[in-house]
Amino acid sequence: MKAAVMRSYHAPLDLEDVRIDEPGPGEVLLKTAASGICHSDLHVIESALPVPPPCVLGHEPAGVVEAVGAGVTDFAPGDHVIGCLTSWCGVCKFCTHGRPYLCPSQFAGRPPGTNPRLSTPSGDAIGQFANLSSFAEKMLCPERSLVKIRDDMPLDRACLIGCGVTTGLGAALNTVNMPAGASVVVIGCGGVGLSAIQGARIRGAGKIIAVDAQSWKFDLASKCGATDCIDATDGDAVAAVQGLTGGGADFVFECIGLVPTVQQGIAMTGRGGTTVLVGVVPITEMVPISAADLTLQEKKVTGSYMGSNRFRFDMPKYIDFYLDGRLLLDEMISSKIGLDDVNHAFDLMRKGEAARQVIVFD
Ligand SMILES: NC(=O)c1ccc[n+]([C@@H]2O[C@H](COP(=O)([O-])OP(=O)(O)OC[C@H]3O[C@@H](n4cnc5c(N)ncnc54)[C@H](O)[C@@H]3O)[C@@H](O)[C@H]2O)c1
Ligand SMILES: [Zn+2]
Ligand SMILES: [Zn+2]
Repeated sequence: MKAAVMRSYHAPLDLEDVRIDEPGPGEVLLKTAASGICHSDLHVIESALPVPPPCVLGHEPAGVVEAVGAGVTDFAPGDHVIGCLTSWCGVCKFCTHGRPYLCPSQFAGRPPGTNPRLSTPSGDAIGQFANLSSFAEKMLCPERSLVKIRDDMPLDRACLIGCGVTTGLGAALNTVNMPAGASVVVIGCGGVGLSAIQGARIRGAGKIIAVDAQSWKFDLASKCGATDCIDATDGDAVAAVQGLTGGGADFVFECIGLVPTVQQGIAMTGRGGTTVLVGVVPITEMVPISAADLTLQEKKVTGSYMGSNRFRFDMPKYIDFYLDGRLLLDEMISSKIGLDDVNHAFDLMRKGEAARQVIVFD
């Protein structure tokens, strides 16, 4: 099958012929229908996340089941599914306490000593990203990385729910307890930020202020539910938020992953408010914050990982939200491309010139 392989950091992905194994126990073989491109894939290419080459990237997929391995009972050939990187074990303290997205076993691949799931035609192992690797015509995944979805859901939109939508919606719906009417700021209007805006709208937030450096994204942010938009390149965005909210917002979602915008996010948060770090700051970087802001103003700072999801429960619900008109997905897709165009898609993402780009397979 054809797949886009990361052979080294800071370089274009290679389009290669890759061998995919038969499904083993508990595994499902999929024909990939579509894969969104998330900024976390670009973080890996730019070595901001510790995933070694060679590796097939891509972690926002939808597909159709082709075959199942021994013991698989939840899926059958022909099922439509979404893949999610937060695979879970079901028995650890995180899984049994209702936070399966924190399961420490989520990136464990096949046991040592078994065949790799992906390899070159001559048999050299190729890494699989997050048990998914969706920049490929087929995928071989643990069944606990997948959820079955309604057949009437178009797969080229369903894929967005696999990462960006679940991350942004879940940050607003699951990670924090946001009361109706709360004032909200979302910094960064990519796939994740636009989904956080929609989560705030679905939750019944009051003001929803979108901040981005690309003002062309504001039409889209407004459609998603933003009541106000601030151009980060035009004046003091912190002062603008403080003006609109009377001193700072109840919830600020940082959806970029840069040290200065995390600091801005904390400054935009009002007394007693919560800053939610959704964007992934490169793992080698630290963020200096004023401890006195936290103590004397009782600001809270929290991370949000993959929308604090229980994806077998959340994703079918998000599909219902789409099909009944409450969740916009079509509008978030700036282009549908073939796998051959994946490197161009990363160029557009680097420049902030795309919303969500989706790879569609034949
Ligand atoms: N927490 C999680 O579990 C999780 C899951 C998925 C993605 N992420 C992270 O979320 C972040 C966003 O992902 P995405 O796919 O939406 O990215 P994206 O590239 O599509 O969007 C980023 C947005 O930020 C804007 N931007 C960039 N620099 C800016 C600046 N200095 N000021 C204002 N706006 C600026 C860009 O114009 C763009 O609209 C990434 O860091 C990604 O790794 C986190
Ligand atoms: Zn992602
Ligand atoms: Zn677990």
